[in-house]
Amino acid sequence: MTVVSPAAHRTTARTDRREPPPNLLAARAAYVLRGNDTGSLVTAAPRLYPHMWSWDAAFISIGLAHLDVGRAVAELDTLFAAQWSGGMLPHIVFTEDGADEYFPGPDRWGTHELSKHAPRDPLTSGICQPPVHAIAVGRLLEIARRGGAVDRGEAEGFVRRSWPKLYAWHRWLAEHRDPGGEGLLAVVHGWESGMDNSPRWDSAYAGVRPGADLPPYVRRDLRLVADAGMRPSDAEYDRYLWLVEEMRRVGYDPDRVVATSSFLVGDVFLTAIFAVACDVLAELGEEFGEPATQIAALRGWARRSRAAVAATVDPATGLARDRDFRSGAWIGTRTIAGFAPLLCGGLDRAAERALLSILDGPDWCGNPELTAALVPSTSPADDAFRPRQYWRGPQWPVMGWLFGWSFARRGWAERAERHRVEGLRLCSDGAFAEYYHPLTGEPLGSFDQSWTAAVVLDWLC
Ligand code: SER
Repeated sequence: MTVVSPAAHRTTARTDRREPPPNLLAARAAYVLRGNDTGSLVTAAPRLYPHMWSWDAAFISIGLAHLDVGRAVAELDTLFAAQWSGGMLPHIVFTEDGADEYFPGPDRWGTHELSKHAPRDPLTSGICQPPVHAIAVGRLLEIARRGGAVDRGEAEGFVRRSWPKLYAWHRWLAEHRDPGGEGLLAVVHGWESGMDNSPRWDSAYAGVRPGADLPPYVRRDLRLVADAGMRPSDAEYDRYLWLVEEMRRVGYDPDRVVATSSFLVGDVFLTAIFAVACDVLAELGEEFGEPATQIAALRGWARRSRAAVAATVDPATGLARDRDFRSGAWIGTRTIAGFAPLLCGGLDRAAERALLSILDGPDWCGNPELTAALVPSTSPADDAFRPRQYWRGPQWPVMGWLFGWSFARRGWAERAERHRVEGLRLCSDGAFAEYYHPLTGEPLGSFDQSWTAAVVLDWLC
């Protein structure tokens, strides 16, 4: 699998996009997933991300389910086998082959030497990512049930054996990542949000001051993208690595990390995902006869986090906000996270209607300049908007999938369908890019990105 030159895929305006027939696009998406498959896991991307990432794996399993339910189940089994003994699902599961390709790798994290909770085999990073896994398991089950008895049996057996692991994961988040006690879950690193360099985190990162004793390092990511400006800056990377250093110094103990990290932010988007994922897991638990006390705990966490998400909404803008737990400040940058309440519900009717009309308005999906009407990671109307730089502006197909899935779940079939159509428009170039320029449709970052291929398959099949 090679990284295709961006020029080969460049397109300009919405009407210029030449769309391959859906079956050809689906075949290409399947080819990407097969090509990135090492056997036990599908790497997040062929070169830039040669390991398994936690939330990527969840979306990837949805795509795989359309090709081979057994393979989809194996993907999540690989991730769950790397679960820490306290319940955390680590954000990276390292492959041996990719060990020299990606930085920071297992040596820099050192989790196996520093934490009694971390597995020794496989090696993992020491932080987590948004808990989309129960959502993926629910979707995988739906897809498998459309197939024959063998697929159904495989998926149902998988739900039974993975439910306790998912429950332990959710309990870990509820117990160790709710420093305010009101359900707004905190991240201790921008990487945990999955939206590494979003302007959401700029003010909190300003408070992270890398020490003179930050061990030296060499970035590997910049060699693998067409333009370094698509990736986070070196100043951002120093802060990312400094936070890892802080965690190493407290042995990745979850409570000491929360107590000492110079970055501690209530992440409204992760919290909304947690709320809806708790609902999905509770529903699966009811169907499969899991313990009533655990189902009740999930319902309680969902209620608390849903209310916490609703409570972040800024009355002045109508958008949800993150909260810096270190400074106490609300973070009101206009990013995709502002729409978090649409994922999990919980707003009163007027506030929800207002948020939907912001979504449809000219600063967001209703902007006529957009190639596809999907939520950009940062509003094109915001000063922080950078249309080519990672989470500072580009559209991420996988985020389109998440909103579309949530809209369908909430009964908004027409909105869900619109997201599907717009997502396919964005991905119709067949590059399966990590992210896209929202105004030109140029594919950016890594190509043949597995989770992009996976959501395209789910949209098409
Ligand atoms: N997304 C990060 C990276 O770009 C790590 O999680 O490497």
